[in-house]
Amino acid sequence: MPDNVRSYAVAHLAGDGIGPEVTAVARDLVDLAGKQHGFTIDWRHCPLGSEHYLRTGEVLPDEVLDGLRKTDAILLGAVGSPQVPPGVLERGLLLRLRFDLDLYVNLRPAKQRPGVDAAGADDLDFVVVRENTEGLYAGAGGIVHRGTAFETATEESLNTRAGVERCVRYAAKLAAKRSGKLTLVHKTNVLTNAGSLWMRVAEEVAADQGVSLDYTHVDAACLYMVSDSGRFDVIVTDNLFGDILTDLAAALTGGLGLSASGNLNPDKTGPSMFEPVHGSAPDIAGQGIANPIGAIWSAALMLGHLELSAQADSVVRAIEGATAARVVTPDLGGTATTRQVTDAILGHLS
Ligand code: NAD
Ligand code: IPM
Ligand code: MN
Repeated sequence: MPDNVRSYAVAHLAGDGIGPEVTAVARDLVDLAGKQHGFTIDWRHCPLGSEHYLRTGEVLPDEVLDGLRKTDAILLGAVGSPQVPPGVLERGLLLRLRFDLDLYVNLRPAKQRPGVDAAGADDLDFVVVRENTEGLYAGAGGIVHRGTAFETATEESLNTRAGVERCVRYAAKLAAKRSGKLTLVHKTNVLTNAGSLWMRVAEEVAADQGVSLDYTHVDAACLYMVSDSGRFDVIVTDNLFGDILTDLAAALTGGLGLSASGNLNPDKTGPSMFEPVHGSAPDIAGQGIANPIGAIWSAALMLGHLELSAQADSVVRAIEGATAARVVTPDLGGTATTRQVTDAILGHLS
């Protein structure tokens, strides 16, 4: 291999349901982009997920996690299966990766694509920066008096100043590179403790980064996303609000099938993990009709994070070439298969 060809080690964690279908084709796209633009990916197969769990009882062995730490990035399909109790893989695999690799930003762009007849505004184009290691996801809480009439279940939202600050700082820096406007979304009128911390930190960080700060309650943010999405450019929000808002944003731009995300370690002290926003979609798994765009766009975000920005842009342009030509899967109103969409995107890649 010539010296000027950059090579990256990327773990391929295909996971469950449609995860293997959509990440296999995302790999093809990345490999072709590499041939055209002079980089190679050393894909490392990582066979975790429901099958592995049901066969071995293992969710995420420590030695596998240690191996993942040594990669440049992780491309994940989806985890979760009707055969496995809820939470085993979602918490034990996906959230453990987010937490243990300290992937504290979940970057979820939302953008209308040409040819996609979607419910949101034609010019919808914003990014949600979702805090990814704290809040109600942190796992604080429990059940006492189980099985009695007084059974009590608690889930506590953890918000640390350091955790909020690093997430808001990432979002403010991103806003500075885009329109200069950051919007905090929270529920400060009810969640007054966490809300106060988020607000004070956002004000400090926005002033420090020289961006303007707007604020919207999360319920109103749902309304405006539908009725006036132009008011948003970079949204920063807590973990659960971000989860919910980004499914809404997905619906407005054509659905979960084309929404992408990056679980980022912005400091690049370890790998970041890229995955479509959708889950394992057991209802359509194995039929060859899953929309691969979310996974392919996630792979493009990965290239951007690996400082292959021009290559990332060419993958996104190729996606838009296929959607503009209406080569799309049934979730977007088309009749194309996963393979046909992939071939159309491959054909537009240059
Ligand atoms: P889901 O995203 O799997 O599916 C929701 C709906 O969207 C389904 O009708 C599905 O067919 C459709 N859909 C999703 N992706 C699509 C695609 N690429 N192309 C076409 N249609 C698509 O969400 P769910 O049904 O709530 O969850 C199923 C399982 O996935 C659960 O076990 C859940 O915990 C898990 N899950 C995992 C992740 C992840 O790994 N990141 C994310 C969400 C849900
Ligand atoms: C997502 C998913 C996950 C989340 C689940 C599967 C743990 O819904 O990536 O949006 O809630 O973050
Ligand atoms: Mn979600």
